[in-house]
Amino acid sequence: MLLVTGVNGGLGALVLERLAGREGVVAGSRTPQRVPAGVPARLVDFDRPRTLAEAFTGVRTLLLISAGAAEDDVVIARHGAAIGAAERAGVDHVVYTSLSGDGDHLPYALAHRWTERRLRASATLRWTVLRNGLYAEFLGAITAPGPDGVISAPLGDGRLAAVARADLAEAAVNVALAPAG
Ligand SMILES: NC(=O)c1ccc[n+]([C@@H]2O[C@H](COP(=O)([O-])OP(=O)(O)OC[C@H]3O[C@@H](n4cnc5c(N)ncnc54)[C@H](OP(=O)(O)O)[C@@H]3O)[C@@H](O)[C@H]2O)c1
Repeated sequence: MLLVTGVNGGLGALVLERLAGREGVVAGSRTPQRVPAGVPARLVDFDRPRTLAEAFTGVRTLLLISAGAAEDDVVIARHGAAIGAAERAGVDHVVYTSLSGDGDHLPYALAHRWTERRLRASATLRWTVLRNGLYAEFLGAITAPGPDGVISAPLGDGRLAAVARADLAEAAVNVALAPAG
């Protein structure tokens, strides 16, 4: 069984779209009632670790979509709860959506680095870290001109490799369906 977390988020929804209808796919969300009809759904809330034992029962592969829009200590606690629960439930392989570089100095990179190290240190889990680039949608949003027609993002001449969420979703699906490869 493959369980995908965060399926009502931007990336998770695109992942689920590509997996819907496949045998053995389960959707995980804080709001499972919002999962499209026909897809088995389970309550998954990393802030309520007690939900995770039941949610991860029978799961072989966990596609752990980072739950990142919070302070580092909160995100670290979320990911720690998810990985601990995966270990206890006997999950075989965790696929984790991280950042393009493990040395990134972006403000939100710390929680990703912590999570990668936690996975590496696991005595039982196999894991794959997806090195997701900056969302093109995000870049588009911050570089859009304001009402005065001025683009005020401090990007300067810097170069960025941005990627559409849909492409990241496709890569995540391919990895999650054949994690050993
Ligand atoms: N590469 C980039 O440019 C970039 C930019 C921004 C963020 N990110 C990272 O990539 C992740 C996915 O991006 P996105 O666009 O899909 O973000 P998003 O639309 O904000 O969705 C994040 C999803 O994470 C899940 N989540 C949040 N808190 C959770 C909790 N306590 N327990 C379980 N699940 C929780 C939720 O899914 P449910 O609603 O289904 O519970 C939420 O909808 C983000 O969370 C962030 O870590 C990457």
